[in-house]
Amino acid sequence: MDLDFNQIVPYIPFVLEGIWATLQFVIVSIVVGLLLGTVLALCKITKISILRVFANVYTSIFRGTPLILQLMLIHYAVPQITGYDIPAFLSAILAFGLNSAAYVSEIIRAGIMAVDKGQIEAAEALGVPYKPMMLHIIMPQAVKNILPALMNEFITLTKESAIVSTIGYLDLMRRAQIVQADIYRAFEPLLFAGAIYWVMVFILTKIGGLVERRLRQSD
Ligand code: ARG
Repeated sequence: MDLDFNQIVPYIPFVLEGIWATLQFVIVSIVVGLLLGTVLALCKITKISILRVFANVYTSIFRGTPLILQLMLIHYAVPQITGYDIPAFLSAILAFGLNSAAYVSEIIRAGIMAVDKGQIEAAEALGVPYKPMMLHIIMPQAVKNILPALMNEFITLTKESAIVSTIGYLDLMRRAQIVQADIYRAFEPLLFAGAIYWVMVFILTKIGGLVERRLRQSD
């Protein structure tokens, strides 16, 4: 077996910088996905049918096509029509945020539906308006049901982030590939990047577990 990790030592700082490059757009995408996903989930449970249709069509499109295709469309096809060159960072946020919103909307919708119907009926009977009912009665209960599935989504996004390497964004994955091309060795840089992804997901899982325990304590 011909493994030589000494060769990647000079490249370690370069690869490590990729952690922040990756985290930056993953975090922003998660926030975009959460916000837009919540709005879409509310659209899906509303009585206004046009909003329901819109949210369902949205989900169908963004869940029904590959994320890498959406990324390519935003980064390469949109500039073709608009003449505006989108920076890779912005393309990444848009693709990941819009894509994640489709998944998040289903997670939140399921979480809201899992809250006992009597809760809504009681709130309505007491004359609580829609907004405070959602915000102070339904959502706090829904969050507990939603959290594990939401954590799954964040983990998926963190790992799928590697596909931005295809549009030239200098994320962790792209950096590992550059090192690979530089030293003519694939195993060492890829293994190194893999270990970093694993640690990132491990930390994310721990944070999720912590939040979940906190929420359960308040029961
Ligand atoms: N590789 C899958 C796709 O291209 C993963 C998408 C996952 N997205 C998400 N937000 N969970 O469709």
